Amino acid sequence: SGVCKAAVEGSSGGVSIMSGSSFKVEENAIGGKFPAYSKPRVIGYYSLDCDRNYCGDLSQLKYIHVPVDYNVKFNLDHGRKLAQKKDDSCDEKLDNLLRWMLQNSSGGDWKSDFVCFRGLLTVLMCTPYEKNEDWIICATKWKGTIFLCAKETERKRLSKERMTDRDKQFASWGYKFEQYMSSGKPEGVPDVTRPVNERKELCVMFRTKLNNHCLLFGAEMDGVESTSVINSCSELAGAKFIELKTSRHIETARQNQNFKRFKLIKWWGQSFLVGTSQIVCGFRDDRGMVHKLENFEVLKIPRMARDVWDPSTCMNFCDRFLSFVWSVVVEERPDTVWKFEWRPHEDVTAVKIPGPSEFSFLPTWFTQP
Ligand code: A3P
Ligand code: MG
Ligand code: MG
Repeated sequence: SGVCKAAVEGSSGGVSIMSGSSFKVEENAIGGKFPAYSKPRVIGYYSLDCDRNYCGDLSQLKYIHVPVDYNVKFNLDHGRKLAQKKDDSCDEKLDNLLRWMLQNSSGGDWKSDFVCFRGLLTVLMCTPYEKNEDWIICATKWKGTIFLCAKETERKRLSKERMTDRDKQFASWGYKFEQYMSSGKPEGVPDVTRPVNERKELCVMFRTKLNNHCLLFGAEMDGVESTSVINSCSELAGAKFIELKTSRHIETARQNQNFKRFKLIKWWGQSFLVGTSQIVCGFRDDRGMVHKLENFEVLKIPRMARDVWDPSTCMNFCDRFLSFVWSVVVEERPDTVWKFEWRPHEDVTAVKIPGPSEFSFLPTWFTQP
């Protein structure tokens, strides 16, 4: 283990497929055996401050305090108008992750077949069951590693543009819930009087292997459950991560089916990828009041939703898609991008876009430091 394909095959490995090749989702969305997925290892971290400036520390690590009594009274709408929202006009691409790689390249060998954010892998895992959202994934090979970067689709851009005040309200409730459940200190008490700053985040870097693909990815993590202060990578690696979620309380069988179909698959994928074992959900009403918390054991989620989706299908699809990308993206040029595009009910298409272009995403400060 630990040997990447690049090291085995050499840089000339892979099969060259010319522009216009496609990948059939239906043929590759197969169940069968669950693929090999090694325990994700924490190898680093960085924080983004209130203005989304990069900080190579644990300043944004949150300690999660799960109340003993799961009957709570949280008002997620409290102070919503004062919340500091993320500015979506600036596309950060992989910049922060690349900065982490540059700053930590002396600390070890971060050689990997694929580098990306966790969210991109979650999207891939959900693709066999996705009926609405499309995606665009850009890929560039550089020094034996394929970098993957999600690009906003036209559909997504329009739906963001058309977001109603009500949609925006829902989106801010999730962040408020995080504030109710966490603080900056192990023994701290959540301070819910201050406005929420939605720009801050802790990103944890993980390394793992999916079948023969070595992966290095960054993941925004909600926090850890710990009674002592965490100061180092090894302490973070040994800590128990918890994922926080909110959802409207479920009243009907139909709502429960939708919960399993649309939410549990994403929750499971997101948490499974980083080895998070517990999700704490705050069930809310339409006014944003949470009255009840509930625990979800990540490993038990697939069984809960077994009538709707199959975890092997999700992971095998991800594995096969990465194999497809590896076979297509052979040439190593930092400006050239292979654009993989998918819409529900269609196949994945791959198009080569020689750079520099609007799709290029590896900055020169990374490729020529
Ligand atoms: P909820 O998922 O509880 O609604 P995450 O759970 O992935 O850490 O995300 C934290 C919160 O960010 C979400 O809480 C939601 O409020 C907001 N959020 C995440 N992804 C979003 C998206 N695609 N659109 C709108 N809000 C989003
Ligand atoms: Mg989060
Ligand atoms: Mg969360």
